[in-house]
Amino acid sequence: DKAGYKHFMAKEIAEQPSVISGTLSAYLTQDSIALPEPGMDFTKVDRLVMVACGTAYYACLTAKYWFEKLAGIPVEVDIASEFRYREPPITPGTQAIFVSQSGETADTLAALHYARGKADRIVAVVNVPESSMAREADYVLPIHAGAEIGVASTKAFTCMLTVLLTMALRASADRGRMNDNQIADFSRKFRGLPGALNVALGRDEIIEDAARQIAEARDVLFLGRGSMYPLALEGALKLKEISYIHAEAYASGELKHGPIALIDKSVPVVVMAPRDGLFEKTVSNMHEVMARGGRVCLITDAAGAELAGSDVWRTILMPEVDEAFAPILYALPAQLLAYHAAVAKGTDVDQPRNLAKSVTVE
Ligand code: F6R
Repeated sequence: DKAGYKHFMAKEIAEQPSVISGTLSAYLTQDSIALPEPGMDFTKVDRLVMVACGTAYYACLTAKYWFEKLAGIPVEVDIASEFRYREPPITPGTQAIFVSQSGETADTLAALHYARGKADRIVAVVNVPESSMAREADYVLPIHAGAEIGVASTKAFTCMLTVLLTMALRASADRGRMNDNQIADFSRKFRGLPGALNVALGRDEIIEDAARQIAEARDVLFLGRGSMYPLALEGALKLKEISYIHAEAYASGELKHGPIALIDKSVPVVVMAPRDGLFEKTVSNMHEVMARGGRVCLITDAAGAELAGSDVWRTILMPEVDEAFAPILYALPAQLLAYHAAVAKGTDVDQPRNLAKSVTVE
């Protein structure tokens, strides 16, 4: 049931504030973190290995920034189809985390089998609690996204991020990096995030307008720095899988190491950049793009828009949030941009060609 929406994808994008509220109530109490696996403890973890495919892989890449910054734990992230065949060494003290909407993706499941008996603990972050990955893990953390029908993952991605961020918080507390007051403060802000997500959804018309222009491009570039880099990757994946427009993402700092050669007036460049400690550097990347005729679509907050100047082609304004929450918030405009570009092109949004919802064969 599309509940009045034209596509399941549109419905699932719109559901995110309420679905994430639900996930947050399962993981946070009034003033602390309450993971559904109370035995989970990060004090003795030396290293995390995170493995997944596609969008779930980008959720892991984002979580790497959180675990490193908030908890000081070294994190390795790998694509399941690479990890499973590489015979990577897994040393004692390693916790292995497998992230999957379906819990059945063949490569991720095979990677989990490989890690069994080698890692101290196997953790499954999944949407389907009765899935193979959930059954075979030591700890199961459900993301509570509800059924996701659209082939392109949207609410499952942001629910994965939500759960991974609460894990990083738990790890931060376990390792004495945040005290009870700080955790209480953080979780209070976290519970306010759905409000910011609603504001992002309210930008729909502006995003649709930009998307209609972007739909005419042959190639689109996405740029981001820090934890926005995995979001740029996710934005590019979403656009190519449902609109069939060629899209690539780069870490902003990589621009002058190659991709800048692609820039001319026919290539829109989507820059995902809240005003944070790295913003100034991103602005200089944007100016390099604009100096070559590139059209910049900047997704930022009010402070960022002011610093960016007036030559930006399109600005999509997000509310200001704590830096840690920005990846969850900025996922929404990226999804809407892809969605509206696909609608403008008239593609089959919910059932893109050549793709399956769950990839249970290699
Ligand atoms: C992208 C998408 C895929 C999946 C990937 C992993 O929109 O849906 O990239 O994210 O196939 O699937 P799960 O999460 O079920 O393991």
